[in-house]
Amino acid sequence: MDDAPRSEDTLKRGTRAREDYLESILNLIEEKGYARVVDIAQNLNIAQASVTGMIQRMDSDGLVSYEKYRGVILTSEGEKIARAIIKRHKSLAKFFNLFGMDDEDTYQDIEGIEHHMSSTTLKTIQALTDELERQPALLARVKARVSKES
Ligand code: FE2
Repeated sequence: MDDAPRSEDTLKRGTRAREDYLESILNLIEEKGYARVVDIAQNLNIAQASVTGMIQRMDSDGLVSYEKYRGVILTSEGEKIARAIIKRHKSLAKFFNLFGMDDEDTYQDIEGIEHHMSSTTLKTIQALTDELERQPALLARVKARVSKES
């Protein structure tokens, strides 16, 4: 479901940037109730003018709907992609949390990894997370090994 075929448009160059935008927009909408260009620009650390340009392209691609005074709204296609990315982010965060890494430590790594995961990789990490949660002795051994090697 995460990797359900997308339209050619959304798979073209800039997929990663689009995924970052969609993730940021959905997070803003869920946190604040709306997503303004200024907030997206701040989240992604990108100039407002560039954000406006990208949002307009994403509007033409059918991923968002942009109204200057209302901010950015996700289309159902945009929301589907955003939810898949956020799910990957959360699954990866949960996996790394097992080893005592907090969300702040792992944020940048996860932002990179989350764009390059097939649904099989995601499922594998989820299964590993579940199994390690059920086997504290094994988890402790892995943690000890990581701290010894670092
Ligand atoms: Fe993310």
